[in-house]
Amino acid sequence: MTIILDGKKLSNNIKEELKDKLEKYEKKPGLAIILVGNKPDSEIYVRMKKKACKYVGISNFDFHYNKDTKEEIIIDKIKELNKDDNINGILVQLPLPQHLNKDKILNSIKIEKDIDGFHEANVGKLTLNKFSVCPCTPTGVIKLLDNYNIELKGKNIVVIGKSNIVGLPLSLLLLHREATVTICHSNTIDLSNITKNADILISACGQPEMINSNYIKDNIIIIDIGINRINCDNKKGYKIVGDVDYNDVFNKVNAISPVPGGVGPMTIAMLLENCVNNFLNF
Ligand code: GUN
Repeated sequence: MTIILDGKKLSNNIKEELKDKLEKYEKKPGLAIILVGNKPDSEIYVRMKKKACKYVGISNFDFHYNKDTKEEIIIDKIKELNKDDNINGILVQLPLPQHLNKDKILNSIKIEKDIDGFHEANVGKLTLNKFSVCPCTPTGVIKLLDNYNIELKGKNIVVIGKSNIVGLPLSLLLLHREATVTICHSNTIDLSNITKNADILISACGQPEMINSNYIKDNIIIIDIGINRINCDNKKGYKIVGDVDYNDVFNKVNAISPVPGGVGPMTIAMLLENCVNNFLNF
């Protein structure tokens, strides 16, 4: 029987634990969220993050700038937040508009307040397995796998996607757990030939339902990180699907994370956990 890796349930449990942990503190953790522009997906993600923060008792400080805002304005705000004792974490929602230098902005965050682990110094620590913070989606994937006691050591794990936010840090975490990791990306030749070797296949390629049963061997584990919006004639006019053709692979796999309800909620739970850890270690 195929196991559904239920990220929604696990994230709800984590949220309850964090809420309980914070109850005894009068002063609450503070998370600053910087959003530049009006990208609908980013606005939705930020709204979801804020709602989850409120639920567990993390105070939100919102900084929403219009899409033409100058880099210096944002960096000055980050410098101010770096010094503010009420702020334990600073999050800059990505992607940023083209004219902004993403690296410069992310690297202006004080490393102790870098809640996403995107600062170059934190990336370096992750590479050397000396990290104290790690990007939320990769951490959420590992938590989800651990929750179902899925062994990583010695497994052939294929990661599709090499982004700084997901594929790259996730591959490092898996490597640190002694997995044999293969990273594929948009220039990979003969992808299905590689994915067919996977004991665990993790996709973050952003191609709706691209991975079907022809890409996998029997009895593997699939983690689907994709969140893709496709047109559909329901009330909303669209639906959210993953990178994996869920129905096509379902009977061929041992376990799979659904979309929605898999990695997405785990990402938010890990943001909350990073925030609370920062607050408690301050
Ligand atoms: N955009 C997409 N995913 C993320 C994330 O995990 N953190 C931030 N800050 N922006 C994102």
